[in-house]
Formats: sequence, structure tokens, C-alpha cells
Amino acid sequence: MRTELNPLFSPFSCKTLQVPNRFVMSPMTRQFSPGGIPGENVADYYARRAASDVGLIVTEGIGVDHPSAIGEGSMGEKDIPVLHGDAALQGWRNVVDRVHKGGGRIVPQLWHMGAVRKDASPPHPEARSLHPGNMDEDDIADVVAAFARSAANAKDVGFDGIALHGAHGYLLDSFMWEQMNNRDDDWGGDVARRTRFPVKVVEAVREAVGPDMPIIFRISQWKLQDYDAQLADTPEGLGVIVKALAEAGVDIFDVSTRVFSRPAFADSDMGLAGWIRRLSGRPTMTVGGIGFDKELAASFTQQTTVLDNLDEVVRRFEAGEFDLVAIGRALLMDPQWVVKAKEGEAFKPFDISAYARLE
Ligand SMILES: Cc1cc2nc3c(=O)[nH]c(=O)nc-3n(C[C@H](O)[C@H](O)[C@H](O)COP(=O)(O)O)c2cc1C
Repeated sequence: MRTELNPLFSPFSCKTLQVPNRFVMSPMTRQFSPGGIPGENVADYYARRAASDVGLIVTEGIGVDHPSAIGEGSMGEKDIPVLHGDAALQGWRNVVDRVHKGGGRIVPQLWHMGAVRKDASPPHPEARSLHPGNMDEDDIADVVAAFARSAANAKDVGFDGIALHGAHGYLLDSFMWEQMNNRDDDWGGDVARRTRFPVKVVEAVREAVGPDMPIIFRISQWKLQDYDAQLADTPEGLGVIVKALAEAGVDIFDVSTRVFSRPAFADSDMGLAGWIRRLSGRPTMTVGGIGFDKELAASFTQQTTVLDNLDEVVRRFEAGEFDLVAIGRALLMDPQWVVKAKEGEAFKPFDISAYARLE
């Protein structure tokens, strides 16, 4: 038992969600759901983590109920799951049951790829890809309703909360990002107006799931289109965004950084999760580079080795920067990672070939 990690093995709760420790499986697209339907292999994959001390699972990105939501993205994605239609809902019901039987909790990450989706890509090649520059009022209303429908479906199949993908340059994020949103109507302009579309989505999801179910919102500075992008270059601008989202119904911010310990703004050592916690008054989740010496993007091309940086996680946790700790690649590669952290056992080496398997 590695006692210095005890603070991370304390319980956390938010509304109806009770998590026995602070470790969360970060959302990771896996492309193992042909026809949008998660099968028994997907259920096994999540159940394995649930049974091995992962406090909360955020699923892979799941396409919302709109034909333009998913398709081939920047990584050539295919076989992305959805959360509508009897077969997909039955598949997710099974995933949720298996996770619950293993003692875990699970929330779906609702996803609209926006402009990252390649035109004419399956499963709906006829659908136009959407971005702030080509959406009229009907398109906006349709996408908001699609998020709400998928959230209601998630509640019906028994998920423990809702996670919204508001990061990485996908649709919700692209409205907030000045470089992509050049609208001069109510959905663009200053930072408050650019935040209005994600705010409407959060409000509609809140309406769909009721007051007690937690809503987690993923936010990032970095974009797939530009790893060094800034959504907000000052704490003041960031404050406008996260306060509006919190007021709309976000309970927890999932703060997606490339490296969790990197200072977010000049003149302070504090990471982005710490800033957002302070500015929004909501709990936050940190992520990025825990367990490895290279961040996600670098790990595709550079030699990547295990790095035990959990002492730094604990230090920042105790300093009040965040409430939850998300683990991506390390948990994809080893379902037992949290157990190993707890027991002080050696971690498995980085293994990029694991992306091709669902273990
Ligand atoms: C294979 C893979 C797929 C990913 N897919 C998603 C996704 O669907 N949604 C999302 O928000 N982040 C996604 N991410 C990002 C992770 O959630 C996480 O933020 C990132 O890997 C950094 O954490 P890590 O350093 O612990 O891996 C993905 C990462 C990987 C490695």
C-alpha cells in the first residue's frame, strides 16, 4: 500500500454520483462499435476497469442523435458508437449493467465532431459537416435537441451522469474559439456570445435529465487543429466562459490539458484545472501525461516511457487544484493501473500496439 496516495483514495460525490476514489478513466475513442452498437467486447473492456478500482469511467466519445455528429475525423475514425436506436441502446444498457455489477460508475461522453468530420464520410455520407460558419437557426436548434435526446436516452439506459465533449476543436468548442467562430449574430462576437451555443446545449441537457444528474463538461485550450491554441488567453476571459457554463448546469469541469502540471497563465504555477476550479466554483478533473514521460501527441512519434508522477498529482490535489484525476493512455494499456498505483507495484511499459486491441 502506497500511503502517500491516500488522499486520492478518498470518496467524492456530486449530486447522485458517489465515487469511492478520485481516479477516472478518461474518454478514449476506440472504434470497436460496428453500426454504432457497442457489443460484449466493449462491455468486457469497461467492466474490467470498473472491477479494478477505477472510480468513474467516462466512455469514449459517442455520436449524438444527429446525422452530422460523427464520421471520419482527423484520425480516420470509424465504428464510433451512438446512443440512439434500439440496438445501440440495448448495447449500452448491457455496458452499464456490467460496469455496475463490477462495482463501478459510468457516464457517456456525448460528441459532435463539427468541422473535424470529413464531408461525405459514413455512417451518414449524405450529411453536411457543421461548423459555426454554416449553421442557421434550424441547424442550431436541431443539434441542441440532438444532445438533449441522447442525454435522455443515457438516463434511460442507466448511466450515472452525462459528459459533454466541449473540447479539442469539435463543434461545441469551435463556437467558443475565436479563430473558428466569425459569426456576427447572437451566436458569435464577444466571448459571452461565443459561449452561447454550448450554454444552450448544457441547458437543454439539464432540462432532459433533471436537476439531480451530474453534468460533466470537457474543456480545453488545445485544439486538434492547433495544439498550442488558446481558448482564453487571460483568466478573465476564461472566467466568462466557465461561469456561464456553470450557471447553465455544468457540475464538474473535465479540464483537458496536454500535461496536467503545466502552468496555465503567466505569474502562477497553477494548472488549468486549478484556474477553472477557482473561476467557476465547480469541482474539476485534471488529465494529461499522468504515468508517462510524453504527452499524447508526442507519444505517437517519440519513445515513451513510464514516469511515476503521482507525487505531483497528490501535491496539486492537496493544494486544491482539482477533485478528480483522469487517466487516459495508462488505463487503456493496463486495466489494473489504479490497483498498481494503490499497491505501489510496477506499471506496465508504454505499448502503442494496445490501441489496435480492446483489452
Ligand atoms: C486512443 C485515444 C482516444 C481518445 N479519444 C478521446 C475522446 O473520444 N474524447 C476525448 O475527450 N478525449 C479523447 N482522448 C484524450 C484522452 O481522454 C486524454 O485526455 C489524453 O489521452 C491525455 O491523457 P493521458 O496523458 O493520460 O493519455 C483520447 C486519447 C487516446 C489515447
